[in-house]
Amino acid sequence: MTQFISTRGGVAPVDFEAAVLQGFAADGGLFVPETIPQISEEQLQKWSRLSFVDLAFELVSLFIEPTIISADELRGLLRGSFNRFEHPDVTPVVGLETRPKTYILELFHGPTLSFKDVAMGFLVNTVDFFLKRKKDWASLLVATTGDTGPAAAYASAGKKSIECWVLYPNGMISEEQARQMTTLEALNVHAVGVNGCPDGGDDLDLVLAKMFADDNLRRQLKLSSVNSINWCRVMVQAVHYFYSYFRVVDRVGEKIVFSVPSGAFGNLFGGYLARTMGLPVKAYICANNQNATLHKALSTGRFTKEDLIPTVSSAIDIVVPYNFWRYLYFASGRDHGKIRRWMDDFQKQGSVQLDSLTADAIRDGYISASITDEQTLSTIAEVYQSRDGYLLDPHAAVAVAAADKHSNTLAPDTKIVCLATAHSAKFPDVVRKALSVEGELPQQAMHKSIERAKGLCQHVRLCDCSKLAPALTHAMQSVTKSRVDSSKIE
Ligand SMILES: Cc1ncc(COP(=O)(O)O)c(C=O)c1O
Repeated sequence: MTQFISTRGGVAPVDFEAAVLQGFAADGGLFVPETIPQISEEQLQKWSRLSFVDLAFELVSLFIEPTIISADELRGLLRGSFNRFEHPDVTPVVGLETRPKTYILELFHGPTLSFKDVAMGFLVNTVDFFLKRKKDWASLLVATTGDTGPAAAYASAGKKSIECWVLYPNGMISEEQARQMTTLEALNVHAVGVNGCPDGGDDLDLVLAKMFADDNLRRQLKLSSVNSINWCRVMVQAVHYFYSYFRVVDRVGEKIVFSVPSGAFGNLFGGYLARTMGLPVKAYICANNQNATLHKALSTGRFTKEDLIPTVSSAIDIVVPYNFWRYLYFASGRDHGKIRRWMDDFQKQGSVQLDSLTADAIRDGYISASITDEQTLSTIAEVYQSRDGYLLDPHAAVAVAAADKHSNTLAPDTKIVCLATAHSAKFPDVVRKALSVEGELPQQAMHKSIERAKGLCQHVRLCDCSKLAPALTHAMQSVTKSRVDSSKIE
């Protein structure tokens, strides 16, 4: 039976249901599976012929006991999670003519146009499934740098078992991303715009972590998290690596490279999981913008929090990549003691020097780059104006620019898959700047859902970051009370 333990080693192992519903482990660590299943070459051959949903079924079945979710229920949950994707392949891959060995993995065909939809739909449906079975409900508390919030809000809308609270740093995400959260007509979705966040989404993560650490509050408000600290998110994020791998290789076994625009390391942890399970990956390129915590940690072995720099790829303006702890746990040889010490030191001093063995281990199969705004904008313009005429969003452009930086050091026939994590329609101002257009945007930078949201009313609570914990607690208590009162009347 697959069990999940905390990276800090302070709680007894739990099953998949508990790991999903708790989100954070009670000792402040992140859940990881006790063992990572291995896929044989023969299984890989079989998986290579599967549709996205069938592949997802095979992969997630390895972590979920049928006594917790039966095979039929799991298939139903997966189908229901991907049926709103606009592309039949869910995450299609396209080749670039002007960069013959480079491919774009389009992860933005879900309902809110970012890669967060890939895992969020399944996670929220699974939480809803568990809660209904227990005849219970929960408050999902989500901090966002612009894409997790819309995905969580959309997936939760109208679900009776869920109150979904999405917090965003006001003014630090695009207007289009904010509207995806504030224009939803769903009484169980609560958007909170937070003013005064110098470190953007990281400031919100800190407040959330404190609220989760308060046992009473956690119980009283029935708190649960669907940020990528939740194991289910990173697990499902392994599927698109397998799926795209099979679309681009000439034969199963060929080794390829993925370039991943990275913030909190959740998507890259999905990649780590895929490779550890047996996906033939030569290397991952960890593509940062100027907020280069991960690039610096991989290059120097020092993991340091620096001041946040607002960039044009704002969804990866992250200076505390919390999923990196999961990676460090495995890279340190599963050393709970080291993780506890490093997490505590990082919290106190904002910096940790890794020992040389761990520093070498994190570089095994990982290279990295830090991309400036000028490089991001010129990559968008160059690819759009080339024969390809393909419009990258700013995050995909960071991935392509990072791949360009490293292409000389890779063998010339190495295939590189760049992850396009959002639709450019979410970032029209950046597209305008990159292409120097003032009037109408190219058709590729438009999407009907974004256009529609422009004509809808917004519902939002506004709050200052310095008052966030008490103000949010008050708002959540009042919603909890109305829920309890109305259940008495019914
Ligand atoms: C568009 C986009 N690209 C990349 C990322 C980075 O993903 P991760 O935080 O999992 O590294 C995010 C979210 O943080 C995102 O919204």
